[in-house]
Amino acid sequence: MTRRAIIAGTGSALPERRVTNDELAQTVDTSDAWITERTGIRARHIAGEGETTATLGADAARRALDAAGIDASAVDLIVLATATPDQTFPASATKIQAALGITDCVAFDLAAVCSGFLYALSVADSMIRAGGATTALVIGAETFSRILDWEDRATCVLFGDGAGAVVLQAEEDSARGILSSALHADGRYNQLLYVDGGPSTTGTVGKLRMRGQEVFRHAVTNLAAVLAEALAKAGVDVGDVDWVVPHQANRRILDATARKLGLPAARMVITVDEHANTSAASVPLALDVAVRDGRIRRGDLIVFEAMGGGFTWGAAVARY
Ligand code: COA
Repeated sequence: MTRRAIIAGTGSALPERRVTNDELAQTVDTSDAWITERTGIRARHIAGEGETTATLGADAARRALDAAGIDASAVDLIVLATATPDQTFPASATKIQAALGITDCVAFDLAAVCSGFLYALSVADSMIRAGGATTALVIGAETFSRILDWEDRATCVLFGDGAGAVVLQAEEDSARGILSSALHADGRYNQLLYVDGGPSTTGTVGKLRMRGQEVFRHAVTNLAAVLAEALAKAGVDVGDVDWVVPHQANRRILDATARKLGLPAARMVITVDEHANTSAASVPLALDVAVRDGRIRRGDLIVFEAMGGGFTWGAAVARY
């Protein structure tokens, strides 16, 4: 018997406030034309008072549980991927756990920045396959607006806030589920995309800093390679893929990666125009959008990919 982790349901949540490029251009020295042309971003959601990583994550998790038809009491594992936790500790995963009314399960945060959801999915999948969990919530939730330098137009226009979640459930001998994953990190590049503060260095939270062009260059190469690796591990061909659900950093990165792999752009789920880069939230957010609008259907072969600060990067293949 083969035990697999199947995706039983998806959910997402966005802050109430939607900010267009034009609105941003009223306070930042930028323009809708520059942002749209360089990134494909048209709008992003920005968290307001009372909206935090944990509240957004809990809303996304509730919707994923509803979609799966599973009661919160069945959850025995919560992995929250985030680089913007509510506090340094306790783990925001425990705040989500409490908000869902769960009083006993494994709950922890995982930090791999924009690749966080891929890392969290792989950890939860491994725990489920090893018999250490049966019903897992895998959540990506972020409030990057709170670590942006709003004076730095080269970074502040690129990011947004939000959350996405999936319920993974153990199933025996299923054709569905996570078929493979591939993860990487190379810390030699950790000064190309980072936050310039933290509890053990400055004692402050710090702001996001990025060398955009260098990140761009590495992203296309790493993403194409890790996608090919995950497909090979799953024993499937690029031509078998129904949907790619990529990390939504930049439309140009998505197009270049698709070209490099020979994937038709029409098979990519794109939400960067509406959500901007929501870091660990972007893959599960995009997945939920495409599931709810009917593009992704049961039985489809889907591929996830992401790259972020560290650098970290990864991909996973799943039969939905
Ligand atoms: N509005 C208007 N002008 C801007 C701007 C903005 N928001 N941000 C930067 N500029 C200006 C720069 O000041 C520069 O002006 P100059 O030529 O007069 O010096 C010019 O635009 C070009 O800047 P540059 O940084 O070379 O632009 P770019 O073509 O590399 O595009 C990014 C910048 C950030 C869009 C691009 O590098 C990128 O997408 N990188 C990857 C980022 C990413 O996805 N990171 C997350 C990975 S998880």
